[in-house]
Amino acid sequence: MYDFAFDPAQPKAEFYRELADAAGALTGGEPDAVANMANVAALIWQALPDLNWAGFYRLLDGMLVLGPFCGRPACIRIPLGQGVCGTAASEAKSQLVEDVHAFPGHIACDAASRSELVVPVIAASKVIAVIDLDSPKLARFDSEDQAGIELLAARIAGAIGG
Ligand code: SME
Repeated sequence: MYDFAFDPAQPKAEFYRELADAAGALTGGEPDAVANMANVAALIWQALPDLNWAGFYRLLDGMLVLGPFCGRPACIRIPLGQGVCGTAASEAKSQLVEDVHAFPGHIACDAASRSELVVPVIAASKVIAVIDLDSPKLARFDSEDQAGIELLAARIAGAIGG
């Protein structure tokens, strides 16, 4: 059992440093990519309030394919360039969406989602996956959340690339 406790009152930058450290500790000694993605999805789900979905899509043969996650069952395959996830993967760039209804081509996997943050996971200069976070609250995520999840993505890239 792992018991991580995060103080929601601390500054976001510090919170995300601790989250990235926890993700690094969880995945550090384990070579299995699925096990590592599953634990990181669960860690994010536990640590961040106001989420209705948190997990991975892996980039396999030019298509995003659903990976380990917490939340409702979701779309299994997303072509590159489509939706928020496909845009993040094709542009290798995080997508911070304050209102998903205003994002052209947003793919609604859960009607409750109102805002979304998608961060590419990059290993050896290539996108290997994206981390997708959905919230039922409008504008749930800000630039500090984006920077924090980018820090986490960089920390775990080596542990989910295999
Ligand atoms: N909303 C995403 C699809 C994935 S689900 O949110 C889990 C998108 O537009 O790519």
